[in-house]
Amino acid sequence: MSEKFTRREFLQSASVTLGALATAPAVKAFAAEAPKGNEKGLPSCDVLIVGSGGSGLRAAIAVRQNHPNLSVVVVNKGMPSRNATCMAEGGINGVIDFSKGDSHELHAFDTVKGGDYLGDQDAIENFAIKATEAIHELDHAGMPFNRASDDTVARRFAGGAKYERCNYAADKTGAIMMHTCLDQAISSGVKFLLDQYLLDISTDGDECEGVVLLDIKTGDVTPLLAKSVVIATGGYTRVFYNRTSVPFNASGDGIAAALRAGLAFKDPEMLQFHPTGVRNGGALITEAARGVGGKLLNNKGERFMSKYAAKMELAPRDIVARAIETEIREGRGFGEGMGAYVLLDVTFLGEERIMNELPQIRHVGELFENMDLVKEPIKIRPTAHYSMGGIETANFKDMSTTMPGLYAVGEAACVSIHGANRLGGNSLTDASVTGKIGGEGAGNYAANRAKFGSGKNADELAKKWRERLKEITSGSSNNANEMYALREEFGKQNWDNMGVFRTAEKLELLTKTLKEIQDKHANLKLANPNLTYNTALIDYLEFGNLILLARCACLGALNRKESRGSHTREDYPKRDDVNFLKHTLVKIKDGEFTVDYKDVVITKFKPVERKY
Ligand code: FUM
Repeated sequence: MSEKFTRREFLQSASVTLGALATAPAVKAFAAEAPKGNEKGLPSCDVLIVGSGGSGLRAAIAVRQNHPNLSVVVVNKGMPSRNATCMAEGGINGVIDFSKGDSHELHAFDTVKGGDYLGDQDAIENFAIKATEAIHELDHAGMPFNRASDDTVARRFAGGAKYERCNYAADKTGAIMMHTCLDQAISSGVKFLLDQYLLDISTDGDECEGVVLLDIKTGDVTPLLAKSVVIATGGYTRVFYNRTSVPFNASGDGIAAALRAGLAFKDPEMLQFHPTGVRNGGALITEAARGVGGKLLNNKGERFMSKYAAKMELAPRDIVARAIETEIREGRGFGEGMGAYVLLDVTFLGEERIMNELPQIRHVGELFENMDLVKEPIKIRPTAHYSMGGIETANFKDMSTTMPGLYAVGEAACVSIHGANRLGGNSLTDASVTGKIGGEGAGNYAANRAKFGSGKNADELAKKWRERLKEITSGSSNNANEMYALREEFGKQNWDNMGVFRTAEKLELLTKTLKEIQDKHANLKLANPNLTYNTALIDYLEFGNLILLARCACLGALNRKESRGSHTREDYPKRDDVNFLKHTLVKIKDGEFTVDYKDVVITKFKPVERKY
């Protein structure tokens, strides 16, 4: 062990290897019973969670809490502590104070309205009830929330909310929640399989039998069987490569694998632009800054939100992001091109309050803009932040997908709670609530499944991938640079043509461009055949997934001839409930994309025009 105790060393005791998972005694070491019925002797566990952000960890904990006899493995391509959950900074929504008129019904209503009525209301009502439970569970698990004067968990406003119900731990709520869950997962016996890249989901007949993984350290391709699988791989806003708040490797691998396995990608066009990304690069400046009174200013020094919404800076994200982009387009911003910006002023809060409630964004200002937001306003511009779309997850009671044995949670899933625009503070709630429900669902499924799948298809998929990886790395000159240039171009094209403002013309152009980019990507060959820590190869695979997902998003956006939430069609500026109160469902069949629609579930909130 090195002198410095690294996170990797910390996780060592909770880690397993594929080799160990191939031998029943090793699995028995962390489950009361060894999984039975794996005929091929392939690595296996009872429940496999792919992805280790907030939703994946919460799912893993839920399995172990409900089924201590089941072995649970969380597989991830990096470290469990590096994920987009950390980029939900401002807080986690859930009503814990009912004394001033707030209620589950109001939380549900704000969520439905915020999502411009595209959310499924049965799922949302359940979500709002479970949100309260989630906050208390985290509090009892020891999450160090800030405290209100009466010692309850501190809460503040988030955009689009009628009451202060965004519970927070400074402006690091996601990171702190994720670490709380990581501690709980480790202590409840969850095991981690690190540095494994998800290549495909495998089925036996119609039922999920596991996944095929690429070991990033060695280049080995291995099937891993499980009685149930939970996809918790997050979203795909890295399609906007150079302007997003999410980690570099948030490439929607789980959604892409689900598409390849024949599942539907629901509402792929619904991508959220958070109003305040730092100008340089798009890292997040939390909505909490506006929640405590932060003001947006244009180049005339005007607090321009007064023109766009009575709720000013606390209108939902889609409205504020459009307002900022409009100011820039109409010449009232600063700077030019991708570097254009407006200002966010929190100086009036003073250093003490900023250090108590918003220390992280001060640090982000120092890092990315070399400035101190205690002393001067910070330069910001919208940044791609969240994917409302995801794997079709029709059953909000267990987060099951249309494939028996396969579950999806968090941002990778679309159940659909956030509709066309997620409210700030609802992502951590989603991770906690859907993670828990999905973990319970997957645990129950595994507990009732007598046998593993045969592993035949997984073996065949693994064989195909070994061939494909050989082919990808068979280049004769080092053209990785070409790949990175193509990826930059891809991000720019998506931002320019599928960003905050969309038109048929732009989307048609993007359809063509994305096809060309996909063809170029398919023909690229990397020159390094050594698969050991071949990071260019991982970048290549992630890029391939992003292209696939961008093509689905572009198709959904082109076909949705209306404006709703974050999907703004300048050529169809109005919401059209007659034709589009529907979810988009994109599938891939024999290499071709198909588009279908599914009605939105309406319970008690009748769609009306959204006003703020
Ligand atoms: O602005 C933020 O702190 C982001 C929160 C969220 O995405 O929920």
